[in-house]
Amino acid sequence: MKIAISSDHGGNNLRKEIVNLLNELGIDYKDFGPQTDDSVDYPDYAAPVAERVANGEFDRGILICGTGIGMSISANKVKGIRCALVHDVFSAKATRGHNDSNVLAMGERVIGPGLAREIAKTWLTEEFEGGRHEKRVQKITALEQ
Ligand code: RB5
Repeated sequence: MKIAISSDHGGNNLRKEIVNLLNELGIDYKDFGPQTDDSVDYPDYAAPVAERVANGEFDRGILICGTGIGMSISANKVKGIRCALVHDVFSAKATRGHNDSNVLAMGERVIGPGLAREIAKTWLTEEFEGGRHEKRVQKITALEQ
């Protein structure tokens, strides 16, 4: 599995935590920045990750901003992206199992690094359940037309 990850300035610290986690788990990734703590606009950093997941260059993406909201709204504008804004472990498991989410968004100003790591770990390892959820995901895709 290959992960694309980015943040805005509000998510820089948590992004570094999650990059450490990816290293610990031995998961291949590319970090799309930002490289400084300067103020940036979250859509500019959501787009490269969302577009590369949508075109298949990366399997999944992780996006972090202050709340996770701006990143998730931006990512979900890209066709083929199912970005889930998650701040608890139950939802991390459910959104993989039920929604087959391909991008995870979290807010650095909402949760601490310990919980964020647990959420990311759960989301990275849970499989899509398929079955009755398959046609629901297909109906999400149909909304893009
Ligand atoms: C930046 O101040 C903040 O607005 C951003 O990180 C995010 O929370 C937006 O949704």
